[in-house]
Amino acid sequence: MRTLIKNIKELVQVERQPKLRAQGKEMAQMETVKEAYLLVEDGIIRAFGPMSEWNGTADHEVNATGRMVFPSFCDSHTHLVYANSRELEFVDKIRGLSYEEIAKRGGGILNSAKATAAASEDELYDIAQQRLEEVMRLGTGAIEIKSGYGLTTESELKLLRVIRRLKENSPLTIKSNFLGAHGIPMEYRGHQEDYVDLVINEMIPKVADEGLANFIDVFCDQGFFTVEDTARILEAGIKYGMKPKIHANEMAVSGGVQVGVKYGAISVDHLEQMGDTEIECLKGSETMPTILPGCAFFLNLPLSPARKMIDAGLPVAMASDYNPGTAPSNNMQLILSMACIRYRLTPEEAFNATTLNTAYAMGVSRELGSIAVGKKANFYITKPIPSYAYMPYSFGENKVERIFLNGVEV
Ligand code: NIG
Ligand code: FE
Repeated sequence: MRTLIKNIKELVQVERQPKLRAQGKEMAQMETVKEAYLLVEDGIIRAFGPMSEWNGTADHEVNATGRMVFPSFCDSHTHLVYANSRELEFVDKIRGLSYEEIAKRGGGILNSAKATAAASEDELYDIAQQRLEEVMRLGTGAIEIKSGYGLTTESELKLLRVIRRLKENSPLTIKSNFLGAHGIPMEYRGHQEDYVDLVINEMIPKVADEGLANFIDVFCDQGFFTVEDTARILEAGIKYGMKPKIHANEMAVSGGVQVGVKYGAISVDHLEQMGDTEIECLKGSETMPTILPGCAFFLNLPLSPARKMIDAGLPVAMASDYNPGTAPSNNMQLILSMACIRYRLTPEEAFNATTLNTAYAMGVSRELGSIAVGKKANFYITKPIPSYAYMPYSFGENKVERIFLNGVEV
C-alpha cells in the first residue's frame, strides 16, 4: 500500500542523513521542503521532495494544500497510568503548602499509590487507554510510560501489565519504565534501605521475569532516594537488562546527574537544579539531559538552564512528565511553546528537543523523531497555518488536523 501526501505547504524536519540526536549548534538546524510530497509505503517513509519532482503512482492520495506536515512528537517521560487526579493537593499548594510538605504528610505519590492499589488492572487499562487516545490526538506518536504509583510488588506489576496491554493494542510506539523507587511507603519511613532491598530483591526479578520493562528509573532527589540507593537499584536493573533512565535534580543538586551518567543512563530528567559541575559531567556522555517544562510550570520551580546547556554543546530534550501530581497535561504542543517562551529556545531547537532528542531519550531515534527515508511513518498534518513558527507561537491551541501512525490515518 502506497500513500502519497501531496501539495504539502511545508514538510518540516526532514533529514537526509539522519542523526541519532541533535546537540549544541545542531539543535538550531532544521531542514524543510516547501510545496512538498511525502510517500509512505507499508508504514515506512519511502520518499519525499518537492512536488515538482513527484512522478510516481500511489494507491491512495491525501491533499494537504495550505497545511504543513511534521514528524509526530515523541514524549519520553510520562506517568500516564494512574487511578485518580489530585486537584485537592493543587488547591493546598495554592494556599501555600510545598510539594515536599504534601509528600511528607502522606499525600503526593502515596495518595496516588493508595488509589492505584484499589483499582483493578482492567479499570486502570480503560482510563489509561482513553488518555493515550487524547495524547495521540495532540500529535504524539511515541511515548514512554512509567510505573511508580504501585510501590508494592503486586501493584507495580499491575501497572506494568497495563502498560504491556497498551503496547499490544495501541498504534503508538510505547516504551515501559519500571519506577518502583518513586516514593517511600509510610511503613518504610526511617529505614528506606529496606524498601530499596524490596525493589532490588523482589520487584526487579519479577518485572524482568515477565519482560515488563525496557528501562529502570529512580526518583533520586532530596527527601526521596539517595545517590547510594540509586546506584544499587540501577546496578540491579542493569543486571536484568533494563537501561537506566532517571529522575534527577528536581528539588536539589542531588548527585543524580552524576550517578545517572556513571551508570550509562539514556537520560537524566528534570534538572531544575543544575550547576556547572553537572553540565561538565554530561559533556561527552551518552546521556540525554531532559527538561520537563510542564512540571516546572505547575510547581513554580526554577527553570532548568536549557540555553546554557545548549550553548555548552549539550543536546537537550523536552518531555511532558504527564502525571497527576506535578504535570497534569498531556500536551506536547504546549511543551513546544514553553520551550520557546520560557526557556528561550528557537522554534528549530524546540522541535528538535521534542521529537528527535526525545526519541533518543526513549531509545527509538533510529526509527522515529524526524522525516527520513526508512523511518516509521508517524506524522501529523496541521490545520492551515502560516509558518512553522506558528506552532510554538499559538500556545494552547490544537493545530493538529490529521494523524498518521505506521503510515495509517488514525
Ligand atoms: O516526575 N518527580 C517525581 N515524580 C513525578 C511526580 C509524581 C507525583 O507527584 O505524582 C514527576 O514530577
Ligand atoms: Fe516524572
